[in-house]
Amino acid sequence: MTGKFAEVHKRSIEDREGFWAEVAEGIDWVKKWDKVLDDTNAPLYRWFTGGELNTCYNALDRHVERGKGEQAALIYDSPVTDTKRTYSYSELLNLVATFAGALANQGVGKGDRVIIYMPMIPEALIAMLACARLGAVHSVVFGGFAANELATRIDDASAKYIISASCGIEPGRIVEYKPLLDQAIEIADHKPDGCIVFQRPQCEATMIAGRDVDWHEAVAKAEPHDCVTVKATDPLYVLYTSGTTGQPKGIVRDNGGHAVALNWSMKALYDCDPGDVFWAASDVGWVVGHSYIVYAPLLAGCTSVMYEGKPVGTPDAGAFWRVMAEHKVKCMFTAPTAIRAIKQQDPEGNLAKDYDLSHQKSQFVAGERCDPDTLEWTQRVLGVPVIDHWWQTETGWSIACNCLGIEELPVKIGSPTMHVPGWNLKVLDADGKEVEPGTVGNICGELPLPPGTLPTIWNAEERYLNSYLKPFPGYYMTGDAGYIDEDGYVYVMARTDDIINVAGHRLSTGAMEEVLASHPEVAECAVIGAEDDLKGQMPLGFYVLNAGSALSEEQVSKELVALVREKIGPVAAFKTSCQVKRLPKTRSGKILRGTMRSIADGKPYKAPATIDDPAILDEITENLKSIGYPKG
Ligand code: COA
Ligand code: AMP
Repeated sequence: MTGKFAEVHKRSIEDREGFWAEVAEGIDWVKKWDKVLDDTNAPLYRWFTGGELNTCYNALDRHVERGKGEQAALIYDSPVTDTKRTYSYSELLNLVATFAGALANQGVGKGDRVIIYMPMIPEALIAMLACARLGAVHSVVFGGFAANELATRIDDASAKYIISASCGIEPGRIVEYKPLLDQAIEIADHKPDGCIVFQRPQCEATMIAGRDVDWHEAVAKAEPHDCVTVKATDPLYVLYTSGTTGQPKGIVRDNGGHAVALNWSMKALYDCDPGDVFWAASDVGWVVGHSYIVYAPLLAGCTSVMYEGKPVGTPDAGAFWRVMAEHKVKCMFTAPTAIRAIKQQDPEGNLAKDYDLSHQKSQFVAGERCDPDTLEWTQRVLGVPVIDHWWQTETGWSIACNCLGIEELPVKIGSPTMHVPGWNLKVLDADGKEVEPGTVGNICGELPLPPGTLPTIWNAEERYLNSYLKPFPGYYMTGDAGYIDEDGYVYVMARTDDIINVAGHRLSTGAMEEVLASHPEVAECAVIGAEDDLKGQMPLGFYVLNAGSALSEEQVSKELVALVREKIGPVAAFKTSCQVKRLPKTRSGKILRGTMRSIADGKPYKAPATIDDPAILDEITENLKSIGYPKG
């Protein structure tokens, strides 16, 4: 490889410190770092040790101080409430500083953990930035999770305070957040000091006297709060994501490396300059929302769009095109699932013709593997480069991407292009040996990873080491399998663990199995991710009933669906399960989930030589047929 990208990438690996020190000049520091890369505790590396800054200052104050106060910082577009509102940088700064004052009045300060359980409203972003302003550590929980999941996070983070809203709005139903919040606090062992609740007119929450405080009342009594200086290595947030067990992993993000990498990424990856309009159609509860609705666009002085709606049904499959045209979006980012949903309802993409999309220069997709059909369709309908890029909650920003702001490389459909500057990807076999180009193996990143990636897991350093760093010494194991071709293009094929990707949402089948197993009549169970035309994957449960159980399959299946919804939440989209007499296993007792997945997807499979009883596979095939698998 030659050219600008190859040159930049080479430097980022061969002169890591020089490269990132230059990039770090894009951030305003209270105190410059002592060390760019601190390797004294390798393989746990830290970036910019000794440096001091405030992330909120970099996202808001500095732009206002430099005369950009009147520029739009945030455009809130909510078809579900029929609201549109633009916030200038000065306005947003004032709201954030005052809310930070309100939080400080409640006793929240540097280092305290604050859970944010809110829908896609500007107050969610204001709450996040207010925490950053105070040096408090926010932990945003996605609204589609149930009380139980919220409680797990309250406990793990030992949250001092909670910020919530009365409700979220899903097409066709109001999701009351407050009863879920009350239930979560009741379940949790750790009790927060209090809650600030934003009342939405669609549903007023009942407040608990002495614990709950109304957002507006808290703000009315508050004075704007200044930025609190924190260390570059202090945590900015903890974001929980699915691991291989029911216990989610609290991914830690630091202040310094995060600000440096995200600020730089707006130009390098997305080719966006200050003043450009950027729209990530995600949710603030996910990492994409953290990085590209809130932090990166604001750090870089762009205008960020926050959309409270769906790709379809709010009101139609032209909603995304309407938002892009109306707000003159230059660069848009969504999940392939959202595009598949649009394509399903408007196969020819005719609705896009109703809008002036001339401001759009690129379309990015991520969150799940992008199938070639979806990529080609999007390219045809929008007529701009459609860039698939690969990342994870852990990494905070892209691992592999076609970096439009450095050099646009030819697109190879099915590949998110190449490792971005700072990442040196290798594909390793089970013994940790690098494989030949084109050979599938474990995709790993050579250590140290670039700034902005996770330094650890909250309260679980050993888990961090065991899950990511110890399997292949000297590397971060991404948990994704795939290959790199002769030209260096990366192909991400599948997870190597039990994580599945449902509509761009990351879920653990292990966590679902724990829920199914808790049903008193279930003796054994397994959950797999079966292929789905719209959502990429859908969970599919298998269960064996206790001997002598009198429950019907219909009854148990209904109860299991309800149980997963209650324990994990609607986001799990667990709708189907299949009763079987036995689960297929190896002689050593390992459940053959991969083989079950092949049967459910109608793919050829070879029973492993170690299978306990091959006849079970025919039984499973028949059982699956009776509930409509394989589909299509
Ligand atoms: N709060 C409460 N409930 C939520 C929720 C939220 N923030 N988000 C989703 N849910 C609920 C949904 O209402 C649905 O409930 P239901 O079972 O009662 O219908 C359930 O969780 C599953 O949601 P989802 O998987 O999103 O399916 P859907 O059928 O409602 O919508 C799509 C399908 C394709 C429109 C939607 O999945 C989508 O927009 N996906 C893109 C996701 C995305 O952008 N991810 C970010 C990655 S970058
Ligand atoms: P999350 O942490 O929710 O962002 O999910 C991360 C996982 O989603 C990755 O480990 C991949 O399995 C998958 N993923 C994200 N982006 C892509 C992509 N562009 N191509 C293939 N898989 C992806």
